[in-house]
Amino acid sequence: MTSSDVMLSVRDLTVRFGALTAVADVGFDARRGAITAVIGPNGAGKSSLFNLISGAIRPSKGSVTLDGRDVTGFSPNRLLAAGLARSFQITNLFFELTVHENLRLAAQLLERGRGALRPVGASRIAASRVDELLVEFALGKRADELAGTLSHGEQRRLEIAVAMASKPRVLLLDEPTQGMSHADTRETGELIRSLSRDHGLTVLLVEHDVDLVMSLSDHVVVMHQGHKLAEGTPAAVRADPQVQSAYFGTAHA
Ligand SMILES: Nc1ncnc2c1ncn2[C@@H]1O[C@H](COP(=O)(O)OP(=O)(O)OP(=O)(O)O)[C@@H](O)[C@H]1O
Ligand SMILES: [Mg+2]
Repeated sequence: MTSSDVMLSVRDLTVRFGALTAVADVGFDARRGAITAVIGPNGAGKSSLFNLISGAIRPSKGSVTLDGRDVTGFSPNRLLAAGLARSFQITNLFFELTVHENLRLAAQLLERGRGALRPVGASRIAASRVDELLVEFALGKRADELAGTLSHGEQRRLEIAVAMASKPRVLLLDEPTQGMSHADTRETGELIRSLSRDHGLTVLLVEHDVDLVMSLSDHVVVMHQGHKLAEGTPAAVRADPQVQSAYFGTAHA
């Protein structure tokens, strides 16, 4: 992989919580436009890794590079402005607001830096982005429903739409299919695939559904007890004996 193929690069990333090293010297590259999955047993450090990359927590050590730019220690908002968005393992939707309002709030970021007057033109940009998102994520019929009343699958879809509102170049998804039915999981997989294929989006996702990971990902990073255990193509990772005993071999919630 040449350096121009790399969209996101992580080196020696480490975070300690007291005596616990939740992420220990983790390094990998996410290729531009590709889908990279992070897998590993519960407590392996996957969400902590995402928190480090997305600026929710600061690393004890290591670096994060976004499209050649050192973004280590950037706040989530600065990262969003630089083109990196994320969705969370635990929902961050406003349940008491409508689907439309949730998207409107997220799309408002597009208006930033356009002056204090908040001109009609800027507001139109956000409004038209919301319309695009409602179509693209098949939420048009739900636009006026409260987010809290959507099905679980629709909520996760809305979350991805919220993360996409600012037109990021990199999207981090923490367990986008968690708690979903089989059909919803398949649909979400298709959605993620189309985001990468049709929009050239670079996707980094944490996912427990092994079948989905295997069918969706271009590259897989396996974590175990804070460390990177292995990385490679889905087939190579699946065939790795170390990975099998640490992950595939064990019953997993
Ligand atoms: N803010 C925190 N403070 C202290 N310990 C934390 C914090 N966040 C995570 N941990 C611990 O770090 C370890 C890794 O947790 P993390 O949530 O990153 O794992 P995970 O791979 O996402 O697990 P899961 O599959 O259950 O989502 C766990 O032992 C967890 O208890
Ligand atoms: Mg997690």
